[in-house]
Amino acid sequence: MARDDWDPEHLPDLSGRRYLVTGSNAGVGFFSCLQLAGAGAHVIMTARNPSRLSRARAAVLAQVPDADLETLALDTSNLGSVRAAAATVRGRVGLHGVLFNAGIVHPPKTRELTRDGHELVIATNALGHYALAGALLPALAAARGRMVWLGSVSTTLFPYDPVDPELVHGYTAWRAYVQSKVATSALGYEADRRLRAASVPVASLVAHPGYSLGGRTRRIAGVSAPSRRKRFVGGLQAIVAQSKERGAWAPVRALVDPDAEGGQFWGPSHTYTGMPALATPSRVTTDPDVGARMWHYAEHATRTEWPYLKGRRLRVR
Ligand SMILES: NC(=O)c1ccc[n+]([C@@H]2O[C@H](COP(=O)([O-])OP(=O)(O)OC[C@H]3O[C@@H](n4cnc5c(N)ncnc54)[C@H](OP(=O)(O)O)[C@@H]3O)[C@@H](O)[C@H]2O)c1
Repeated sequence: MARDDWDPEHLPDLSGRRYLVTGSNAGVGFFSCLQLAGAGAHVIMTARNPSRLSRARAAVLAQVPDADLETLALDTSNLGSVRAAAATVRGRVGLHGVLFNAGIVHPPKTRELTRDGHELVIATNALGHYALAGALLPALAAARGRMVWLGSVSTTLFPYDPVDPELVHGYTAWRAYVQSKVATSALGYEADRRLRAASVPVASLVAHPGYSLGGRTRRIAGVSAPSRRKRFVGGLQAIVAQSKERGAWAPVRALVDPDAEGGQFWGPSHTYTGMPALATPSRVTTDPDVGARMWHYAEHATRTEWPYLKGRRLRVR
């Protein structure tokens, strides 16, 4: 049962707990790291660009001088990079949570492919995280940890095409984004069903940041520098939009609230803005047929099978 006295600005003490966040250098990912570090967690900040990552690390330290941080290069659109990063983390004693935040939010106008040959947006937002989750599952299981996938209320905007997940036909930037977010969310719920069925002690949840704009976000040297125009546009949308700092509240709650459970969807209480609360997911994302189809697609596209899900059940002492 979710508590209604959760205060996102005063998180429980997270000392001794370890979390990894993808896309840590900006937006929701950066503020998630800041909030986790401020509560005493060890945070593995990851990003694809080393200089942006080191600027983000410095920005966290500027606000939380005793932050316990580690940085790691990780490009979610590149399966080689995902595997290399996972190999660095995998040997650790335990990982209490992973936030699958990295994402292309403004997709290219025309369809692009990754070096692995997949459509760029679904590869970055969904496939890379699916492969990373599988590789980190032993470390998560060792700590009875959690994974949180970043969904979006935009999943209600366009019908999902289950037959053509990479939009070989009919690509548009918006369709690609929505398609990738349906895929990400459906993988999150399917992961929870499969982990439960195999008695793996890892929970999988989905969260979304509402409508979070750079133009509503405070300036942070090296990380967030909204232009005057962006702040003006953000101001015009003040009633329906919030900062990325607040956008991080729901994903962080899904990651650390002791009462949160696998299979849940967390988001701002007023859909686009507000305190982090349980939310109602769009039907397509929780449909087991869509989940199974997405899982099959992700397994083949990444040539990755998650451990533990076949055969014997995992015993964790
Ligand atoms: N903002 C919203 O209103 C909203 C609403 C619904 C869902 N979401 C979801 O929330 C998440 C964060 O959104 P945001 O608003 O914080 O976006 P953002 O400010 O654009 O930040 C996106 C982050 O993802 C990283 N990223 C992009 N491609 C990557 C790759 N190939 N490998 C590693 N990192 C990569 C970016 O790094 P670079 O700086 O290197 O590009 C950046 O750190 C996304 O998954 C998005 O779909 C956002």
